[in-house]
Amino acid sequence: MAKAIVITVDGPGGAGKGELTKRLAKHLNYALLDSGAIYRVLAYAARKAGLALFDEESLVQEARVLNLSFDVQDDGVHVLLNNEDVTSAIRTSEAGVNASKVAAHPLVREALLQRQRDFASDCDGLVADGRDMGTVVFPHADVKIFLDASAEIRAKRRCLQLEQSGKEANFDEVLKDIKDRDDRDRNRPVAPLVPADDAFILDSSDMTIEEVLAKALELINSKLDN
Ligand code: C5P
Repeated sequence: MAKAIVITVDGPGGAGKGELTKRLAKHLNYALLDSGAIYRVLAYAARKAGLALFDEESLVQEARVLNLSFDVQDDGVHVLLNNEDVTSAIRTSEAGVNASKVAAHPLVREALLQRQRDFASDCDGLVADGRDMGTVVFPHADVKIFLDASAEIRAKRRCLQLEQSGKEANFDEVLKDIKDRDDRDRNRPVAPLVPADDAFILDSSDMTIEEVLAKALELINSKLDN
């Protein structure tokens, strides 16, 4: 099979990467990798197993045996841990904070690298959502997008998302979590959150998701035509 076309969408939490990736994958009929879900599930599994999130060695062991799968259903992609649906459990703000703690360990990231690259086999195209998709996981991706937005706008969007899924949201707490997570993601020594040199930076602060999608498709078409 020919090498899959890879489109990476990196950026901070709440910039709209999840929605953009989902719509791009559907529009282009490509497979989808939600790499954040992998770190979220690992943190969730580690907590369940009673592991400390600073215990890198134990987290690496857990990462190696992590029985994780994605199930595409009509209402979106469901995340399964040992065949149990953990989609909603891993979407809380706390799960995001825990994921960023787990993700700060270099050996944990290394243990999860191949698992992420495998998503690009057995498909014609892949849209990969994360923090280091264009810099580390798929450095030779065909198109790289870095989706950004101000912390306040991202917090507002996150609150709306939480409320829509029936969860409580406190704006100040969500904003603090977002800023703490940004700090941890941007300042970690390995795979920090930075745009790849060849990434197209898109600030979605004042854009609707339809406008972001249209811009991304314009960019993808122009890159793939060349
Ligand atoms: O994208 P999402 O909010 O689900 O990611 C949760 C956390 O997982 C991020 O804050 C980040 O610390 C970590 N992550 C990462 N590298 C990725 C994807 C997510 O470090 N490629």
